[in-house]
Amino acid sequence: MSRLDGKVALISGAARGIGGETARLMAAAGAKLVIGDVLDSVGAETVAAIRAAGGQAEYVHLDVTKPDDWTAAVERATSTFGKLDILVNNAGVFIGKSIEEISLDEWHKLVAVNMTGVFLGTRMCAPALRDAAKDSEHGSAIVNLASIAGIVGSQLDPLYSMTKGGVTLFTKSTALEFGRKGYRIRANSIHPGVIQTDMGEMTFHARARHTSSNDPEGARRMVTNSVPWGRLGTTTDIAKGIVFLASDDAGYMNGSALVVDGGITAQ
Ligand code: NAI
Repeated sequence: MSRLDGKVALISGAARGIGGETARLMAAAGAKLVIGDVLDSVGAETVAAIRAAGGQAEYVHLDVTKPDDWTAAVERATSTFGKLDILVNNAGVFIGKSIEEISLDEWHKLVAVNMTGVFLGTRMCAPALRDAAKDSEHGSAIVNLASIAGIVGSQLDPLYSMTKGGVTLFTKSTALEFGRKGYRIRANSIHPGVIQTDMGEMTFHARARHTSSNDPEGARRMVTNSVPWGRLGTTTDIAKGIVFLASDDAGYMNGSALVVDGGITAQ
């Protein structure tokens, strides 16, 4: 796995799931972590586990829709660890309702977390990332969690798909704008397939509801069988890709989209 020795990373939504595993792997790769989430007790447990394994991590309450929370998170990184090299915009929500079912409030929640959260994280962390890039051969890095639903349409949650499509192109635009300004901050997106997390579990329930089967286990089997690689994804599958994109090994990757889906979108 790529190394992150001496790097400082801030990960949103890292109390559990893909973000939590990314924090664990980044710490094992030598990075110092600031973990932000709205699930404070779960986040504190994740930090305790990283410290118990010999890593350095801090927890901060971070609602990605709130600019003041971002200010405090960046301040925690720079005051505790001296700088910020890596931002992972990981926090996200999935609703699992159709165009005709979803309420306006649910749509606003999707937009607030999945899009406003990514925009705010990028804007609020840019000054610190830019400062750190001045002393780094390969610059600083942003990794945005999009989805395969940000590349192809989703019959399960078309509105989630709209937000992730936005993240896909915002990542490329970030690479272009920061490139034009000479910030030396690389921005790339990662596109997980179906991953075994709380959110992954929600997709099986949504699929069971949409097909009126009331059988989430059947939906899980059906999805598993549709993956060319023959299994669902794990948080480690995705975290390894994030560590790579954040590392100097990806020093010439900018505005790219890394698909980690066992072949789902190859079909
Ligand atoms: P998860 O539901 O297990 O974890 C998401 C984390 O985000 C939770 O800790 C949650 O508390 C946090 N969060 C939610 N709203 C927040 C807010 N306003 N501010 C800060 N944190 C907040 O989900 P998972 O699976 O780990 O997803 C991580 C990312 O990967 C998301 O962006 C998701 O859309 C994306 N993804 C997940 C896939 C999957 O199958 N699990 C597939 C494709 C993309």
